[in-house]
Amino acid sequence: MFYSVDLALLIIISNEEMVWKWIKVLAYVSMFVTSTVGGEDVSRMKCADFKNTTWLEYKQGAKLQVQYLLLTRKNADCASLFSQDCLSHTKKHTSYFNSSLPTKVIVHGYRALGSKPSWVSGLAQALLREEDVNILVVDWVYGASFAYNRVVENYKEVAVQISVLINQLMKDGSTLESFHFIGVSLGAHVCGFVGTLFEGKLGRITGLDPAGPMFKSADPFDRLDSSDALFVEAIHTDSDYFGISIPVGHMDFFLNGGMDQAGCAHSRFPSMYGYVICDHMRALHVYMSALNNSCLLVGFPCSSYEEFLAGKCINCKGPFNGTCPQIGLLKNNGITVSPLLNQEKVFLLTTDAPPYCAHHILVELKVSPLDKTAEVQLTLISAGYPETELKLKLYTNETGCKRVTGHPEWLCKIDSMQLKNTGARIYRQGNIHFEYICISEFPRNRGMDPLCVKNIHIGRGVPWSHDFVQVC
Ligand SMILES: *[C@@H]1O[C@H](CO)[C@@H](O)[C@H](O)[C@H]1NC(C)=O
Ligand SMILES: *[C@@H]1O[C@H](CO)[C@@H](O)[C@H](O)[C@H]1NC(C)=O
Ligand SMILES: *[C@@H]1O[C@H](CO)[C@@H](O)[C@H](O)[C@H]1NC(C)=O
Ligand SMILES: *[C@@H]1O[C@H](CO)[C@@H](O)[C@H](O)[C@H]1NC(C)=O
Ligand SMILES: *[C@@H]1O[C@H](CO)[C@@H](O)[C@H](O)[C@H]1NC(C)=O
Repeated sequence: MFYSVDLALLIIISNEEMVWKWIKVLAYVSMFVTSTVGGEDVSRMKCADFKNTTWLEYKQGAKLQVQYLLLTRKNADCASLFSQDCLSHTKKHTSYFNSSLPTKVIVHGYRALGSKPSWVSGLAQALLREEDVNILVVDWVYGASFAYNRVVENYKEVAVQISVLINQLMKDGSTLESFHFIGVSLGAHVCGFVGTLFEGKLGRITGLDPAGPMFKSADPFDRLDSSDALFVEAIHTDSDYFGISIPVGHMDFFLNGGMDQAGCAHSRFPSMYGYVICDHMRALHVYMSALNNSCLLVGFPCSSYEEFLAGKCINCKGPFNGTCPQIGLLKNNGITVSPLLNQEKVFLLTTDAPPYCAHHILVELKVSPLDKTAEVQLTLISAGYPETELKLKLYTNETGCKRVTGHPEWLCKIDSMQLKNTGARIYRQGNIHFEYICISEFPRNRGMDPLCVKNIHIGRGVPWSHDFVQVC
């Protein structure tokens, strides 16, 4: 069908140059027809998968092997092996690759047990739901398993191999800016090195808890940094252990301070392994949740987590001119200020379960002068959600206090607030008089004013509670 129409056209065209053009078009069409047949085959065809490696193979000196899996909206459930090798029998499946679309490159990190990363398909699906893109998954499990120091030796070699592929794709029409690399843990530094090889001209790199061990004091050349792409962002969730503690991009999101994540300490994971990497893998899970758009994950620029918790950074004025950066696919995280700032630390609180978004609540209070340091516990309650508990220390030299906490619900859905005098167990703590206590949400949502209660007396051992009228 196709052919006869095109041949008729070909005969009409007399100009030689045009003839060559049409021969090219025909070649393209025939390729397309083959690939469509390939597409119909997909259900019967075996889907491509990661290569497994075993301890035995490792001991026998298995070498670094890199392969690429391609996922697009046309084969979102069934990866095909991607190869630029013309002789490869897999060639027909690579035709799902569309060089006029942007390309996401997913790079996994260290695989302690040589197993395939289980999260890859979830991340790819979430990306494909959001954007029509080519997804290339870099499988370097063969070089990423068992002894960490040997894996670190391999990461630049992987980057070099990826850069060869990128050069090929550019010859076929992809542009450097259209590449978005997403690297998990050590994979983030692989992405960084690919970026170095292309002199920072890749479009974007996202580092999901970029690896810390052996990289913290490394030269920026050897690790992910903001010169590796036009826009580099990172999400930090385990910076005291497997993750890196320093900012490595234009925008660095530190979740809950970047070290310990809600729900990880009392992990439900049955295995020690799962327990150990819970904080580290949270960056990935939060990123996937952000791609799902179930709720907003916005951060606030601040010099430190302590300052953030002390309520000193509740708006995004200053570096971002009033716009709070958002985790997800928005260009530059939604920040339009230019030039982009470097190594901007951004803080946010998250909850312990998907979709992870916490509402940021600012607690402001004033007490009458105290004789002794006092301690109170503030509890915020929304029906159907875990309670938010906040311990407040009140000093004799300060009558005002500001603190930031995260709550799973909107301010307008807080049913009640409780206060308990908790210092009494250790020594005799007298009554505390609060001139006021106010809670507000930031960034200011739905234009809602702070909820304030005035003139509260908290006696020892007598909990106090106040119910709010729901306004939404
Ligand atoms: C990898 O190993 C798992 C478990 O041993 C197995 O189920 C899976 O089929 C293997 N995958 C490949 C591609 O060999
Ligand atoms: C490739 O993507 C472009 C841009 O979305 C689209 O116009 C074109 O039809 C796509 N090509 C194929 C072969 O799907
Ligand atoms: C994202 O949404 C899909 C479909 O609604 C759901 O199956 C998946 O579990 C969600 N993933 C996350 C991480 O929230
Ligand atoms: C900051 O925002 C204001 C209005 O919100 C705008 O008028 C101004 O141009 C912005 N400044 C920069 C540097 O983007
Ligand atoms: C009040 O005392 C505490 C503890 O002694 C100290 O950390 C804090 O800086 C003091 N605040 C002021 C305003 O002096």
